[in-house]
Amino acid sequence: RSKATIHTIKKLYRENKPIAMMTAYDYPTAVACEHAGIDLVLVGDSLAMVALGHEDTSQITMDEMLHHSRAVARGTRSGFIVSDLPFGTYHTDESTAVANAIRMIKEGRAEAVKLEAGRRAAPRIDAIVNGAGIPVVGHIGLTPQTAVSLGGFRVQGKSVTAAQALIDDALALQDAGCFAIVLEAMPSLVAETITRLLNIPTIGIGAGPHTSGQVLVYSDMMGIFDRFTPKFCRRFANLAPQMEGALAQYKNDVRARTFPQEGIHTYAMPPAAEENWR
Ligand code: KIV
Ligand code: NA
Repeated sequence: RSKATIHTIKKLYRENKPIAMMTAYDYPTAVACEHAGIDLVLVGDSLAMVALGHEDTSQITMDEMLHHSRAVARGTRSGFIVSDLPFGTYHTDESTAVANAIRMIKEGRAEAVKLEAGRRAAPRIDAIVNGAGIPVVGHIGLTPQTAVSLGGFRVQGKSVTAAQALIDDALALQDAGCFAIVLEAMPSLVAETITRLLNIPTIGIGAGPHTSGQVLVYSDMMGIFDRFTPKFCRRFANLAPQMEGALAQYKNDVRARTFPQEGIHTYAMPPAAEENWR
């Protein structure tokens, strides 16, 4: 598979082929995405919760995101890498937003950045896209970094007024230069309307089947996040019982001295040396 670029994503969109985005947090998850042919690899700040055990995503730092982004880059050859800018790194002013986006490209080895923002962030997005030449993915609807101000992890855009505000946000993000927008946790009908109004791809999560692509959190779809599975997630695997079963078996075999097995998991001295040794 050849290296995906921004043109690959545009082509999928033009040809009406749904775009598959998946989160990856480290080298092995990136390699798994690579082997599966995932189009867009997202180093999501959901890793704060699913990989680092934080309550929400607001605590994770730029340096922590850079560390994970670099690990994902080492395992990615063909996927297009988008890394989340964490909470607080693009909220204050244009030059801070641009400086952090540049760090994510140079130090995090990402190809694009994603940020959770509506129309009020348009000048900062414009500065990143058109000032620094860094591709940006927007993210509206349920924006986990600001879940506190939304009153928790809840579906957005359920009223006509709220849905209209999401449409205004989406159009402003497109005008500011985003090449794609993540739509999270909103009625299918609202996501469908936004998708129809835009001429850039929408990537849905909990936004129904009518978006230009889908994204899921790796740990949710693999069944390895212990706290909850969102309603919108399909578990494509249920790995936690298998992983825990393997660990229990390991412990058992260690206690029973049935692992390691002589002659299979062991190194031998050359016969002559062994003879002398004995
Ligand atoms: O951090 C993340 O995993 C995300 C996706 C849910 C879109 O932002
Ligand atoms: Na995120």
